[in-house]
Amino acid sequence: MPSANGHAIYPGSFDPPTNGHLDVIARAAAVFSTVTVAVVVNPQKRSPYFVIDEREAMLRSCTARYENVRVGHFRGLLAGYVKEISADVIVKGLRVVSDFENEMAFAHMNRALTGVDTMFLMSDSSYSFVSSSLIKEVYLQGGDITRYVPDVVLEFMHNKRHVNGRI
Ligand code: PNS
Repeated sequence: MPSANGHAIYPGSFDPPTNGHLDVIARAAAVFSTVTVAVVVNPQKRSPYFVIDEREAMLRSCTARYENVRVGHFRGLLAGYVKEISADVIVKGLRVVSDFENEMAFAHMNRALTGVDTMFLMSDSSYSFVSSSLIKEVYLQGGDITRYVPDVVLEFMHNKRHVNGRI
């Protein structure tokens, strides 16, 4: 597929990245000339399970195959980082209809703040129920998450569990 000239930013908490995130990254990388995966430093209303360096390391590892994908992080408003890196478009994945309500408000606000539009990719149906929080919950209760996360994420989850001494 030919790449459009444009720099897309794909923001999120990525705590941890899932195969659903990777699917969106792969599809955005096929459309835009550059994709910056932007990790928010402090996800709102929750303390992250993985620190920013770990989340970036997991993303760098599982996106290494895409020459046009970069990984960065930002604090505060996404709009500030959009301007800082001169992104042309914000990319988000939509899993289910209930995602839409919040995302519509975010898209309007980000466009008002930056003039940059948000484009949505429908998540692959096989990942429509996959979220980072569900992955953590299932894993920490002993469930099998191997189908839903890249291998590197599984390694980080194992190491974190070992360090935290959980399960
Ligand atoms: O993976 P998530 O947690 O669904 O990602 C949400 C994220 C990071 C994209 C969103 O919370 C965000 O943009 N946070 C930065 C703060 C901000 O800009 N808030 C106003 C949005 S209009």
